[in-house]
Amino acid sequence: MTLIDGKATATQIKAEIAEEVKQIVENGGKRPHLAAILVGHDGGSETYVRNKVLACEACGFKSTLLRFEDTISEAELLAEVDKLNRDEDVDGFIVQLPLPKHISEQKVIEAIDYRKDVDGFHPINVGRMAIGLPCYISATPKGILELLRRYHIETSGRKCVILGRSNIVGKPMAQLMMQKQYGDATVTVCHSHSRDLKKECQEADIIIAAIGQPNFVTADMVKEGATVIDVGTTRVPDATKKSGFRLNGDVKFDEVAPKCSYITPVPGGVGPMTICMLMKNTLSAGKKEFYQ
Ligand code: GUN
Repeated sequence: MTLIDGKATATQIKAEIAEEVKQIVENGGKRPHLAAILVGHDGGSETYVRNKVLACEACGFKSTLLRFEDTISEAELLAEVDKLNRDEDVDGFIVQLPLPKHISEQKVIEAIDYRKDVDGFHPINVGRMAIGLPCYISATPKGILELLRRYHIETSGRKCVILGRSNIVGKPMAQLMMQKQYGDATVTVCHSHSRDLKKECQEADIIIAAIGQPNFVTADMVKEGATVIDVGTTRVPDATKKSGFRLNGDVKFDEVAPKCSYITPVPGGVGPMTICMLMKNTLSAGKKEFYQ
């Protein structure tokens, strides 16, 4: 069994990005600039955004964090998005989700200029991704593809089961794994209403678990020699941790790992790759790789 080290891979990729940024700047090019909007004080969002800012530093990017109280109106937030759309120094930006209940996330996502949408959430990027055109691909599925590629895990023609159908992970992951230029796999998407979910998993060469239910995938669901990618990051109370919680994956790691050829741990698997792929998208934005 090989443990897929997302943390080490992410560190290496950030160093590769930093080297490229150094070359760009030395050649008189522009330092990529990522902006982030954070609304309110959600603990998880605070951590994610802090880590995104730190990752920008590691990559040699400029970063700007715009913070607003959760009393901000939808119209005010849309006006802030518009300002970033027009700011020529900002190459890409994100609006950290979730947003307060009184603000439509979809409206905000669609207000972002798709050419600066480094999260890859805008329908234009989602649509372009679905038909295999150059675009920003959302960070979690992109990070998983990168891990599979860097660990030389064969996906072409293999049976891949994706657990979960969210817009951020399940759906784009299925699109990418089926496409010839990415996964080239035979893809099955299972969700809360799937019959025979266990049987589907038992036949899978690759399982990508993104349902947000701790310990959902058990050893009896996994074929000997399978690759298991765990996207779950549920916070569960843990008095032994300074923070008072620990992150729990969707996979019952201790019993599943011995059966796998490859498996990602939680934490230290997919998580670090997600932020790293946001950095890759920001580099692409700085280089105007996909759009002018
Ligand atoms: N909330 C959880 N994951 C993400 C992400 O990838 N991007 C944004 N903007 N918000 C999130």
